[in-house]
Amino acid sequence: MKSLLFSRFLLLLPWVLIVIIVLDIDSSRAPLPALSPRGGAEGGSGGARSPAPRRRPEPALPTIYAITPTYSRPVQKAELTRLANTFRQVSRLHWILVEDAAARSELVTRFVAGAGLPCTHLHVPTPRRYKRPGLPRATEQRNAGLAWLRQRHQHLPPPQPGVLFFADDDNTYSLELFQEMRTTRKVSVWPVGLVGGRRYERPVVENGKVVGWYTGWRADRPFAIDMAGFAVSLQVILSHPKAVFKRRGSQPGMQESDFLKQITTVEELEPKANNCTKVLVWHTRTEKVNLANEPKYHLDTVNIEV
Ligand code: UGA
Ligand code: MN
Repeated sequence: MKSLLFSRFLLLLPWVLIVIIVLDIDSSRAPLPALSPRGGAEGGSGGARSPAPRRRPEPALPTIYAITPTYSRPVQKAELTRLANTFRQVSRLHWILVEDAAARSELVTRFVAGAGLPCTHLHVPTPRRYKRPGLPRATEQRNAGLAWLRQRHQHLPPPQPGVLFFADDDNTYSLELFQEMRTTRKVSVWPVGLVGGRRYERPVVENGKVVGWYTGWRADRPFAIDMAGFAVSLQVILSHPKAVFKRRGSQPGMQESDFLKQITTVEELEPKANNCTKVLVWHTRTEKVNLANEPKYHLDTVNIEV
């Protein structure tokens, strides 16, 4: 009788072991789906399962602050419209629009109200003596944007993930550019199209580091890059409170270098856009409009904002 029981036991043992092993493999696989990245649809499926494993809260998407100097001219509203159409498609973008004017204009005020995105509207006039060809543009406006940004964040507790970018009102920006700059840790760089007398300028990258500049204009610039070719993390802006654009001794085309010198080094730069091999922003310039037939005095029966 005993031996019968024993032989039954021996017969069952391998099967029991197999079942245990299979169960074990299955349970070690189970947690995997929870580790995989978030898919599109949330919730819904898996209702019968044990409570979902707790996820760490996702870090907030860094806000992109775009500082745009702008000035009154026939194409201003057209430029701002194009720009807003781009910016409206970028999540968590805060537009800092700085008018080169002694007061906020009605046109820009109305425009901002209907722009459909978070917007701060500032103004500061360029002193007359600096409004000359050959002198850098928009120095005071970019500094006003920087001052606003620093003041706003002074009183907020860290961490404040954010990225600053200087977005002139006439350039052309791809949406991919914003994805690239969003991960800026300190200062990031990328190529700019249609600038420097060439089809593009770009930082030359070797082993993930910037080692030089591909440019056709003033290659001796410490940072041979256009204003549209870099972004700076908010942390860097806050930890270098004195970094601003300078009028004194500033030469055309040196504003970018003069500013970047104050906050970073070439070795530290983070190349974006596939190691700086993709053009995601273009230094387009709008043709001066022909108003040769514009009447000297108002002739139309209505007043139309253009
Ligand atoms: C190049 C660079 O791309 C600019 O970043 C740089 O500011 C400029 O040179 C310069 O010389 O300082 P460029 O196309 O020649 O750009 O300059 P603009 O596009 O005419 O001006 C740059 C920004 O400043 C624009 O957003 C424009 O609206 C604004 N701006 C220009 C003013 O606010 N006031 C002005 O009197 C002129
Ligand atoms: Mn321009």
